[in-house]
Amino acid sequence: MAKKADEIRNLYNQTVSHYDERYRSIQFSKFSEISARWNEKDTVLDVGCGTGLLIEYLEIVPTIYVGVDLSFNMLQVVKEKKPWPCCVAGDVRKLPIRKNAFSRIMSFSVLQNIPDPRETIAEILRVSEKPSSLVITALRKTISIMSLVNWVREEAERHGIRMEIEEFNLALEDVGIKCDIKKE
Ligand SMILES: C[S@@+](CC[C@H](N)C(=O)[O-])C[C@H]1O[C@@H](n2cnc3c(N)ncnc32)[C@H](O)[C@@H]1O
Repeated sequence: MAKKADEIRNLYNQTVSHYDERYRSIQFSKFSEISARWNEKDTVLDVGCGTGLLIEYLEIVPTIYVGVDLSFNMLQVVKEKKPWPCCVAGDVRKLPIRKNAFSRIMSFSVLQNIPDPRETIAEILRVSEKPSSLVITALRKTISIMSLVNWVREEAERHGIRMEIEEFNLALEDVGIKCDIKKE
């Protein structure tokens, strides 16, 4: 059975002390898939940002970077790493962000925690600029690449959003897609 938000928050609050040591290298290998797609004018939303490993990885500082996560303990680690990220304690099933706000949206290894991942996918599409780029990954043991692609296609169609989807092979544990959302 899918875990409730409180359980997820408690789980990640407890994981925080060893998260970076344990997951840095595997998460960095996933991030390497997207490094060529950055520039400093990007406005970046990190959906389920955790301890901000993506921020550590970035060589370019984007104009705006906002990380959203349920776990306050994880967000505190982000603030210890760099002064510039804006951290928001919030639920990715109802992002506390206005529509069409971001040009790059990243969500690494988060959707497997969400009982109905389509809710978060719909939210990601809502806050995406037209045009914009998305990268979404999820643990393969919970979510198949076919489900991920179908959910994104269905939500895009439902909201009249035109996009191209490219699947990519992440190291070992995640399935992932890159999406280019077209101009309206
Ligand atoms: C496996 S970690 C990945 C963190 C980060 N994206 C990374 O690459 O290291 C999953 C993160 O998703 C967050 N999370 C899970 N469910 C969430 C929800 N409903 N709303 C916001 N964050 C959530 C957890 O708190 C945790 O920080």
